[in-house]
Amino acid sequence: MTIIYQDQDGRAASSEASGVEIPVRRITFTVNGRKTVAEVEPRLLLSHLIRRGLGLTGTHMGCDTTNCGACTVLVDGRPVKSCTMLAVQADGHEISTVEGLATASELHPLQEGFKEEHGLQCGFCTPGMMMAAKALLDANPDPTEEDVRWALSGNLCRCTGYQNIVKSVLWAAAKLRAESGS
Ligand code: FES
Ligand code: FES
Repeated sequence: MTIIYQDQDGRAASSEASGVEIPVRRITFTVNGRKTVAEVEPRLLLSHLIRRGLGLTGTHMGCDTTNCGACTVLVDGRPVKSCTMLAVQADGHEISTVEGLATASELHPLQEGFKEEHGLQCGFCTPGMMMAAKALLDANPDPTEEDVRWALSGNLCRCTGYQNIVKSVLWAAAKLRAESGS
């Protein structure tokens, strides 16, 4: 997949389209396992590349200032607020977004957990919560409530309070353990 992407105001990056010479860098990375090549301005945020360039709008933008965690994705398996990272820094790395959680036919246990335990209301924070939780469960399949709260401490929810979100992650952890027989 090759995309040529534009600046944060949505202007095309090419000098032809904008009338201004804007340098671009070619980067190669994977997104949800798919190799992607993009030409981006050095100032472009990863969050904007993901949402506008790749059309993966499950990654939400709540603040653009590193506060809310709605834009959390995994970079080489580690949770990163994608509004804090430049797109060029993704060069050579693996990016995972919420769209990569479910298969064509099945929800991921985290998605099931949020449904079962009523872990969302408006859903705005949910993709970021799930990606932060995925990083936790990949590293620690049997977390305590305190572990979950710590892992989600960079993510804000304006609706639910956090009790059901924590329960949702613990539900997913139990299901993943049951599926793996551990
Ligand atoms: Fe990135 Fe809020 S949009 S932390
Ligand atoms: Fe609405 Fe968390 S469910 S912000």
